[in-house]
Amino acid sequence: MPEKPRGFDKLARASLDAGAQRRRPVGVRARQSAIESIPAASPPKRNRVIPLFLLFLLFLLLSSPFFSFLPLLPKTPNTRRLWFRQSIESGQFRTSVTMSLNGRPLNLLALRYTQLMFRNLLDLASRPECFSVLTSKRLWTDPHVAKQMLRFHLDAKSALASRPADQIDQAVAWLDAQVSLKGRRVTDLGCGPGLYAERFHDYGAAVIGLDWSATSLEYAKNKASATDRQITYLLADYTADRLPSGSDLIALIYCDFCALSPQQRRMLLQRIREALAPGGRLAMDVLAMPAFEQFEETAQIEHRLMDGFWSASDYVGAKKTFKYVREHVTLERYLIVERDRQWSVYNWLQYFSPSSLTQELTAAGFEIERLSRGFSDHQPTAADELIMLLARAA
Ligand SMILES: C[S@@+](CC[C@H](N)C(=O)[O-])C[C@H]1O[C@@H](n2cnc3c(N)ncnc32)[C@H](O)[C@@H]1O
Repeated sequence: MPEKPRGFDKLARASLDAGAQRRRPVGVRARQSAIESIPAASPPKRNRVIPLFLLFLLFLLLSSPFFSFLPLLPKTPNTRRLWFRQSIESGQFRTSVTMSLNGRPLNLLALRYTQLMFRNLLDLASRPECFSVLTSKRLWTDPHVAKQMLRFHLDAKSALASRPADQIDQAVAWLDAQVSLKGRRVTDLGCGPGLYAERFHDYGAAVIGLDWSATSLEYAKNKASATDRQITYLLADYTADRLPSGSDLIALIYCDFCALSPQQRRMLLQRIREALAPGGRLAMDVLAMPAFEQFEETAQIEHRLMDGFWSASDYVGAKKTFKYVREHVTLERYLIVERDRQWSVYNWLQYFSPSSLTQELTAAGFEIERLSRGFSDHQPTAADELIMLLARAA
């Protein structure tokens, strides 16, 4: 075969390609030339970027303390932000990095639990600011705890939620001797299951009982209708909702005033003053200084603390008490840890001397009519644990 001239192949391919190019649309030609300009050896870049990015994400998920607890992460953006912040503040991030750098095995889940437990126990052991956390609603309205409270209210011998029955009789008789209940419009704030409201009614008063515990009120209403007593019961929060107006007497019994913060007490006194009819009175009892002196700081942790009082399911309850010597305040703090949740209760109590009580009531626009030692005709002494107060709106 005759030898082709050396440039022939090149020439023939060039003319063939030129023909093919002419037959293709312009766009395809442009793309084609772009593809041809990529050197054949280099792989397409897009294919590498995605797996690398996925690998990077996987690395983050596995290595970062933030992402390794995804199932445990709080659900809303706000709580998640808070969680991240706490995670940095509590040193979780630093600890896990240090552990990795030191080559110690890093079980992030165990670390997270340990740190949570540390934070909870540290929190439980630390003295919070006076009245900084208010949880009393839960104490009276949690369905299980409210049932336990009702049980104690109705136990005529127990003093946990109400006075024993004979002392209630004595208290109402004393009040009647002071204000003559017959024909009075009486509002019983924090009436519970109606132990005082019924007696006020039986002394001839027109009674409204107000409480935020639906459990207690249901009992009170049933009892009133079963015993044919005309008593109005209202489900309401006396620190927030409107109080019935035009009362001759407003009662706040069993030291409920002591459980309120100074600000709540100021506001409640103002609302009571507004709800009283002209010349109307406030009757309440408060804890006095001898009870404060006797209070001691303690710590306790028990499986089913208080025999199942706090939950129907299995739990561990911790109780830590604090005494605020300057403020005359005590705190019983409970941490209830169940298998799937944990929660706290803060029981604050303010203690009064006759002079601090007088000062607070006078500042709120009341005139003290009577301060007595419990429900008796005696002046309170330094040894009394309870002060009974009768005051008029000035
Ligand atoms: C210690 S018990 C006393 C009940 C009743 N006064 C007695 O001595 O039998 C306190 C009651 O006040 C109610 N209580 C506490 N704070 C309240 C609030 N802010 N509004 C309405 N009721 C409240 C509770 O639900 C509970 O029934």
